[in-house]
Amino acid sequence: MSVVDAVTGHMNGDHPEDNLLIVRAFGYPEAQASTMTGLDSAAGVWHVEDASGAHEVRIEWPSGSINERPQIRREVVALYKSACEKLGVPAREEHAPSAGGHEAHSHSGHGEHGHGGGNPHAAQGGNPHAKPEDDGSFSYQIRTATWGDHSDSEGASVMEDIMRMRATREEYIDLVVQHFYMYEALEESAKALAEDARYAALHPAALVREQTLIEDLEFLLGENWRDEISAHPATAAYAARIREVTAEGWLPGLIAHHYTRYLGDLSGGQMIAKRVKKQFDFDRAGVAFYDFTELGDLAEFKQGYRDVLNALGESLDEAGRQRMVDEVRASYRFNSQIFTEMKQAVETATVSS
Ligand code: HEM
Repeated sequence: MSVVDAVTGHMNGDHPEDNLLIVRAFGYPEAQASTMTGLDSAAGVWHVEDASGAHEVRIEWPSGSINERPQIRREVVALYKSACEKLGVPAREEHAPSAGGHEAHSHSGHGEHGHGGGNPHAAQGGNPHAKPEDDGSFSYQIRTATWGDHSDSEGASVMEDIMRMRATREEYIDLVVQHFYMYEALEESAKALAEDARYAALHPAALVREQTLIEDLEFLLGENWRDEISAHPATAAYAARIREVTAEGWLPGLIAHHYTRYLGDLSGGQMIAKRVKKQFDFDRAGVAFYDFTELGDLAEFKQGYRDVLNALGESLDEAGRQRMVDEVRASYRFNSQIFTEMKQAVETATVSS
């Protein structure tokens, strides 16, 4: 892996909110999303999105020109601190991961991909610093324990291609198709949550994606879309697993899958929608799946969701909590496997054509 890939992968994977902080302090105060895209001896380079569009910004290293790898880290930290100072935000301890971060950088695959990054809270116009605190809560435990798996899903080459706006229309359609099968299982199962007063807040009607997926598929494939779609083996296995935990009556297991998908759609999913809209010049049709306008303020919904997770955590013993965390990890693995199979399908089609 090149030094540039390692640094940008780390910044985008583990410190997405620091990217935003840095570009807001250095030229784009209204930035809504940012990823680090490169660096050289004189400066770091960030991709920025704000209301006026997309920009590239070069920010010079505070100490001037550098030529050794360890200096890069020092300069990025110095930039971060200086950005905090400019914006009046307290800087965290030097070695602490950002709240969105994942402490163990040991994850294979993690950082090898130029992650899309971006801060979906900010994309919603919320406070980018309103990240979950390390408050010992169950939602925080889930997030940190599974962030490495998140990075694997986010870093899958299909996701990376979509975020870099270089996926083909067929590849994007395949993603919508796989979503259709996932959400069919999820939403059939999640009725159990909506009917249970403890969990009803997790599954309001505005979250349900069935109609939006049908709308997108009709738009992308025409009215006979049902005859043209099929699930990859990993998607079928994922749907089967969702149905299995529901049939067992293991609600925390179902919530694990619900959390992994829906909170993702409300987070990175919002970034995906922006890129896809731009690349294919879609309005709503084609990306209706990502439109959660009826849900209201997404950051608020996510917070409410975490509150329910926290209450759930308190009702479980340590083994129950761990079992649920393991199911979230399994859920990410299903997603990553689906992305792998999507890529393999493209490669097979290319070879045989
Ligand atoms: C290009 C792809 C992706 C990008 C850029 C991305 C980015 C992000 C970012 C920046 C956050 C933090 C948001 C926040 O703190 O509020 C986040 C959260 C999350 N993402 Fe992703 N993501 C991607 C793909 C995925 C996928 C494929 C899944 C699921 C299979 C997923 C599931 C989640 C979940 C569950 C959270 C919430 C974590 C929590 O706060 O507990 N993401 N994503």
